Amino acid sequence: MIIYRAKDYQDMSRKAANIISAQIIMKPNCVLGLATGSSPVGTYRQLIEWYNKGDLDFSHVTSINLDEYKGLSPENDQSYRYFMNTNLFNHVNIDKAHTFVPNGLEVNSEKACTDYNHIIATSGGIDLQLLGLGHNGHIGFNEPGAAFERETHCVDLTESTIEANKRFFASEEEVPRQAYTMGIKNIMQAKKILVIVSGADKAQILEKVLHGPITPEVPASILQLHNDVTIVADEAALSCLTELA
Ligand code: GLP
Repeated sequence: MIIYRAKDYQDMSRKAANIISAQIIMKPNCVLGLATGSSPVGTYRQLIEWYNKGDLDFSHVTSINLDEYKGLSPENDQSYRYFMNTNLFNHVNIDKAHTFVPNGLEVNSEKACTDYNHIIATSGGIDLQLLGLGHNGHIGFNEPGAAFERETHCVDLTESTIEANKRFFASEEEVPRQAYTMGIKNIMQAKKILVIVSGADKAQILEKVLHGPITPEVPASILQLHNDVTIVADEAALSCLTELA
């Protein structure tokens, strides 16, 4: 595991975008596993800037996102499909037909998840998976207690996740209670994993993820067992890691 220390959010975003750019340059037809949330917004902004300069070509890239709220349509401005379109896809030359997000409108959970696992399997595998970190250690929407061996599944969101994500909705009642998420098994099968973490509010959980026991109670702790993980975190997020200070 490699840990890069960034000064702040902007520096973290630039370093993460560098790693993703290197992946695209080394393998133009790579499969990127992408994430939503506030953590990757700056990374996507930086990638768009380099694309506009002519330094990046997304035309052969495939993307597979981690998760989607169940019940939200792609046009809903809180859906993760909408987030990806507005924060990245609409601004680069990626072929939208090669961008995948779980189908939030599929009411049959089993079908939605089987279809998504099929997409992941037939893509040839994820070359680089980008991850943010939830305050309770969740990755994608794999909440504490999630079984490590699961593939894409439907989850009931925890109160703490609903609370954390309500800032994006008009009211807490509007936050969907369920989501489709890639499972830990799908994430662990990615060839490389890049985790971005910013802010003092993530410092305690980041310390647990990196140095605590590997337990389903801290879903991201499983990353200790992956052989190619890069963490890019800012100083605030690294503030509980004494040996790095
Ligand atoms: C959300 C997403 C995760 C994301 C996490 C952290 O619930 N499902 O994929 O990594 O929460 O979000 P943020 O980056 O906004 O802190």
